[in-house]
Amino acid sequence: MTDLKQIFEARRSINFFDPEKKLEDGLLEKIINLASLAPSAFNLQPWELIAVMSEEAKRKLFPLTNNQQKVLDAPVTLILIGDAAGYEKNNPVWDELGRMLENKDALANTQQFAYALYGSTPERQLKFAESNAGLLAASIMYAAKYYGVDSHPMSGIDFEGIKKAFELDINKEVVMLIVLGYFEQSKTLYPRRYRKTFAEMVRIV
Ligand SMILES: Cc1cc2nc3c(=O)[nH]c(=O)nc-3n(C[C@H](O)[C@H](O)[C@H](O)COP(=O)(O)O)c2cc1C
Repeated sequence: MTDLKQIFEARRSINFFDPEKKLEDGLLEKIINLASLAPSAFNLQPWELIAVMSEEAKRKLFPLTNNQQKVLDAPVTLILIGDAAGYEKNNPVWDELGRMLENKDALANTQQFAYALYGSTPERQLKFAESNAGLLAASIMYAAKYYGVDSHPMSGIDFEGIKKAFELDINKEVVMLIVLGYFEQSKTLYPRRYRKTFAEMVRIV
């Protein structure tokens, strides 16, 4: 599927994954590389992923998802992690920007501005991590559909439990899970749910 409109119309949250169908070699990497074109503030890309694929890791994750069966059935569940400290100077994206800018002051000023916007309070740090990672999440689901792979986002999960079980650093926040795989064809998907209309969503001023 290559038409973007068709991809948007075809993506659904798939509750039932075929346990027999794995992702072919290299496909996960293609999906993530395509999704990595998602925009992010200052291009800082404050995100990471853990790809839960082994039986052992799936068993560890399953009870932390309110026993959502798709985690066991699907070949991959991504733990999407937002980096609440992703604006800091040790982010290698700053080095790349530094090489592009003409003088050192310009880089220091930009970093200072990013700190004021995204790092100066815990609320801003969290918003920075989650808003950017949310864009990656949507991009992953549409990139997956482009490659014919179904997906399911999940936040009905034990965020703190997953953070502990998968040994995330203090600044790293679990944003959501994204299950990837193929629809179990013997099941029926519920119809597409109601969407708000333009008039309900948009206030023109
Ligand atoms: C951030 C997020 C978290 C979600 N968490 C869950 C979940 O834990 N369990 C579940 O069955 N569906 C979950 N969903 C799926 C939504 O119910 C689904 O996206 C919505 O009903 C629209 O359906 P569609 O994606 O098929 O268009 C989640 C969706 C999003 C975006």
